[in-house]
Amino acid sequence: MVKVKWFGHSAFAVEVGGKVFLVDPWITNPKSPVKDLSELGIEPDYILVTHDHGDHLGNAVELLKLYKKAKAVAIFEIANQIAEKLGDPNRVIDGNIGGPIQLGDGFFVVLTTATHSSSSGSPTGVVFGREGETVYHAGDTGLTYDMKLVGELYKPLVALLPIGGHYTMGPREAAKAAELIKPKYAIPMHYGTFPVLWGRPEDFKNEVAKLAPEVRVVILSPGEEVELT
Ligand code: NI
Ligand code: MN
Repeated sequence: MVKVKWFGHSAFAVEVGGKVFLVDPWITNPKSPVKDLSELGIEPDYILVTHDHGDHLGNAVELLKLYKKAKAVAIFEIANQIAEKLGDPNRVIDGNIGGPIQLGDGFFVVLTTATHSSSSGSPTGVVFGREGETVYHAGDTGLTYDMKLVGELYKPLVALLPIGGHYTMGPREAAKAAELIKPKYAIPMHYGTFPVLWGRPEDFKNEVAKLAPEVRVVILSPGEEVELT
């Protein structure tokens, strides 16, 4: 069972086998129900950052200072910057695209390709969890055929896909991504935070129904949590 909680934008808390992964933790985004970082309601084990745009790096460093057992995982250059700001390299795991990072007890993180930009390092997505309970958070990205490999190799139970358009995939591109990845569930993200992120989750759901009817689209409200099996 995988528990997925959305804080709005691209920020999620995902619980797999008792480990809590916080992804792209912009917890104080305009749609988030959490305004005070000490009231997160969970103790993160890992904080995953896909790229260093402010809406993804978000509150990562503040959270690492507040939640002392958490470790950050990010691409080399961004991991180094987090370590410097935190003043503690031991709580940061640096990796790179395509290299499985073993976290122990069968848990892993793989940074994936994302077609986007980043001020430092390269933009990534992340696959994480453990065998049979993997989650794919695509980060900010356009549609790329690499997603087919993510689906074939890691068979994610759930794919978290940006659908807002303008800077990332819109509903149509994200539905094609769902078709390539073939997860059991797809959850839309990165829409509605600002007017420019125009993609609507209903349109994503309709497109997925056409292209990949076997994929179940789960639309969350900010603050909502769902249990997926
Ligand atoms: Ni971005
Ligand atoms: Mn973004």
